[in-house]
Amino acid sequence: MPSVIVITGGASGIGKTTAEILAKQFPNKTIIITSRSQHSLDEAKATIGQNAEGYQLELTDPASVAAFAQTISSKIETNTWTVAAFIHNAGMIGNFEKSKAGIEKTFHANHLGVFQLNSLIFPALLKSAKVEPCRIIVVSSELHDPVVAKTVHMPFPTFRDPEELTFQNSPDGKGYAVGVAYASSKLCNVLFTYELVKRLPRDSGITVNAFTPGWIPGTGLARNTGVIARSVDSILSPFFSRKLQRSCASLASIATDVQWKDVNGKYLEMGVDKKSSDLSYDAALQTRLWQFSENLIAKF
Ligand SMILES: NC(=O)c1ccc[n+]([C@@H]2O[C@H](COP(=O)([O-])OP(=O)(O)OC[C@H]3O[C@@H](n4cnc5c(N)ncnc54)[C@H](OP(=O)(O)O)[C@@H]3O)[C@@H](O)[C@H]2O)c1
Repeated sequence: MPSVIVITGGASGIGKTTAEILAKQFPNKTIIITSRSQHSLDEAKATIGQNAEGYQLELTDPASVAAFAQTISSKIETNTWTVAAFIHNAGMIGNFEKSKAGIEKTFHANHLGVFQLNSLIFPALLKSAKVEPCRIIVVSSELHDPVVAKTVHMPFPTFRDPEELTFQNSPDGKGYAVGVAYASSKLCNVLFTYELVKRLPRDSGITVNAFTPGWIPGTGLARNTGVIARSVDSILSPFFSRKLQRSCASLASIATDVQWKDVNGKYLEMGVDKKSSDLSYDAALQTRLWQFSENLIAKF
């Protein structure tokens, strides 16, 4: 049965470069990428290669997430595909805005959409993993960790209750800070990874790890930031092209190389199993975020 690797947000930046590496390395595997734009998908497929397939996905739109999950699940259910790896890479930084569901967009795109997508595809992934083991990788950021963020004078997560991140009771986003929202959503990625590992059925054939690519200016991530941040990002971009390749090669390796086969519940950077933030190991917070997210998506 054909085997696929799914990379959300694979039409630009880290996702696209990783897709290019994987498509070249595994010509017999299909590389599934997603984007909010059909035009971006068409352009990306042309450079990734013949074995790339593209699907539209808007993580802050529950109907779009459900449609994409349905596509993936039905391919598995009809024995069209097995999924060798599922890389939750898509992510954003942005000024205060709410999704149509009334939830702050960074939290919605970076965590809640990932949570919804995983919940919907998980039964099919379990089925797929009976045929071929599946590696779920959640792309986080080192900025989730105050210790790292402080060394580079960047904002870090300060929330204690996930409810704070939705801004559901704040129409004007009073107290919202772009960097804090981003870092908080990236902490959610790690908390989600660790909680999902706890919930994996025994001998499921699925592993789940968090991954941080390190700082890589020049991807599309800064597109919604201010003019100064965008200019700095673009000036620095040429100096980071080798790091982009190295980091994406590391992500591609975690998704496919035999050395990572049984690695589960880790936070990985450049092929190294690292310690994530102290708060990310808070088992009660992991469970609270899971249950809170479950309640939110139940209303969709
Ligand atoms: N670059 C860095 O320095 C850095 C550092 C640490 C972690 N990261 C993480 O690495 C991942 C990739 O980021 P990148 O740097 O490669 O930036 P990027 O080029 O902007 O890629 C992000 C991807 O996410 C997709 N995306 C954004 N919002 C979305 C939404 N609402 N629904 C669905 N897809 C959405 C975009 O797809 P379309 O625009 O095509 O729809 C885009 O392809 C992110 O999770 C980011 O947090 C990046």
